Amino acid sequence: MYELRNVTKRYTRGKDTVHALDGVDLSIADGDRLVIQGPTGGGKSTLLQMLGGLDRPTDGEVTLDGTDLAKLSEARLTKVRSENIGFVFQSFNLIPTLTAQENVETALVPLGVKTKERRERAAEALTSVGLGERLGHLPGEMSGGQQQRVAIARALVKQPKVLLADEPTGNLDESMRDEIMDVLERMWKELGLTFIMVTHDSAIAKKALRLATIRKGKLTVKENAGA
Ligand SMILES: Nc1ncnc2c1ncn2[C@@H]1O[C@H](COP(=O)(O)OP(=O)(O)OP(=O)(O)O)[C@@H](O)[C@H]1O
Ligand SMILES: [Mg+2]
Repeated sequence: MYELRNVTKRYTRGKDTVHALDGVDLSIADGDRLVIQGPTGGGKSTLLQMLGGLDRPTDGEVTLDGTDLAKLSEARLTKVRSENIGFVFQSFNLIPTLTAQENVETALVPLGVKTKERRERAAEALTSVGLGERLGHLPGEMSGGQQQRVAIARALVKQPKVLLADEPTGNLDESMRDEIMDVLERMWKELGLTFIMVTHDSAIAKKALRLATIRKGKLTVKENAGA
């Protein structure tokens, strides 16, 4: 699935250079479930952005199924992203004026899916995360946990190969946190996704089978950490 070689990301501001990622090597297999943790500013979100083709490395290769994302044109990269990669963020990033169903449908627009099929697939995805009764609700009419489930449905409706989650439970209270983790866990198993998640939650990190830690842009991976 993913092969990262010497991935480096430098941000330069005036005379200051930040090494957000500093020579990261990482292999991620199909169907893997990788948890990423580390101190704030360590480079976790930057790594996720590289994996998701949201940004390009300063140096190195980010290969997804044989294609180096760093070398793709913007148009090709957008295509790879919209077909293969689902994102879930800490702030749910829903469009406030669209219903749950319409928010989920937005993921299918760039894929050229027709209106009727879009509607059906969005309803199906929302049902699979337990929101079949909330299709017509606006984000403001839902709890945080429900909004995050809409975001998960939006990430998964296109049937991506990869799900990237950046602190998906960061804005939620404890009970909702467990609920969202259960949904993500179930989706990973049911859909055969490759699931990569950044979390500050040490309970989740402890249970991870593969745990990556990033400090000052340097990555270490512990296998079978939770076994
Ligand atoms: N667009 C940017 N411009 C300049 N510096 C940046 C930019 N994005 C990130 N950085 C810097 O890169 C480093 C890594 O940032 P990153 O967001 O990846 O950390 P993080 O591990 O996700 O932290 P957090 O846990 O707080 O989310 C930080 O020092 C940050 O200030
Ligand atoms: Mg971050």
